[in-house]
Amino acid sequence: MIILITGGDGFVDSAVIRHIIKSTTESVINVVCLTYAGNTESLSLIDKSVQHHFVQVEICDAKAMEDTFVKFQPDALMHLAAKSHVDRSTDGLAAFMQTNIMGIFTSLEAPRKHWLKFTGDKKTTFHFHHISTDEVYGDLEGTDNLFTETTFYEPSLLYSASKATSEHLVRSWQRTYGLPTVVTSCSNNYGPYHLPEKLIPHVILNTLDAKPLPIYGDGNQIRDWLYLEDHTRVLC
Ligand SMILES: NC(=O)c1ccc[n+]([C@@H]2O[C@H](COP(=O)([O-])OP(=O)(O)OC[C@H]3O[C@@H](n4cnc5c(N)ncnc54)[C@H](O)[C@@H]3O)[C@@H](O)[C@H]2O)c1
Repeated sequence: MIILITGGDGFVDSAVIRHIIKSTTESVINVVCLTYAGNTESLSLIDKSVQHHFVQVEICDAKAMEDTFVKFQPDALMHLAAKSHVDRSTDGLAAFMQTNIMGIFTSLEAPRKHWLKFTGDKKTTFHFHHISTDEVYGDLEGTDNLFTETTFYEPSLLYSASKATSEHLVRSWQRTYGLPTVVTSCSNNYGPYHLPEKLIPHVILNTLDAKPLPIYGDGNQIRDWLYLEDHTRVLC
């Protein structure tokens, strides 16, 4: 199989690629645009692998996405590229809307146009896997009432609203064009190569430096955590 992965030098994204390359013989087309959030070090153990093909593309560039899709004719597309740091969404709103909403549009359009031309097994087995977040369901009220697939959408932050929008767009491409899609909406991940600006590394680094620890809201918010490599095993 050839799997096209967007944002492949990010935190979850690179773990997915490491997992595929270490445990399968499949090829990965890694679409990255080298933003501050990418960390090529996270790919250092596998970047010489013949299974790994690095392509520099901004996902909102419709022509570049289409050219990449046509060139590599992938059997599946895993869409992970996103602006993901909630704290940056207030000041960097345009980038969030552009990548998380326009970027899903261009990422869906490339396979939509060309999947239609696939024939045989390739057409029936192709799928577009959108990696979303449980933040589309809003805030957890307690530990007895965790989110499920039937929980209502109640995004309350700019990031989660943009991800909820992207989930709706994915479902509408499936309903309208029959594009085979899967959406997974996982909870917060922690694990190797986590960017220092994210909660767990931020708290650890501040503790080591004896700096104040950030408390969000009134400190009573509950988050559900998932170990990164448990997540990637399920995703792949
Ligand atoms: N990290 C988590 O806890 C978590 C939880 C649930 C869902 N998710 C979802 O998983 C996906 C990956 O999250 P992450 O934590 O690895 O994020 P990340 O910020 O570490 O990585 C995102 C990647 O997308 C790339 N990117 C951003 N804008 C781009 C653009 N316009 N074109 C091409 N690439 C672009 C970045 O360079 C980076 O490589 C996201 O869609 C996120 O919403 C993450």
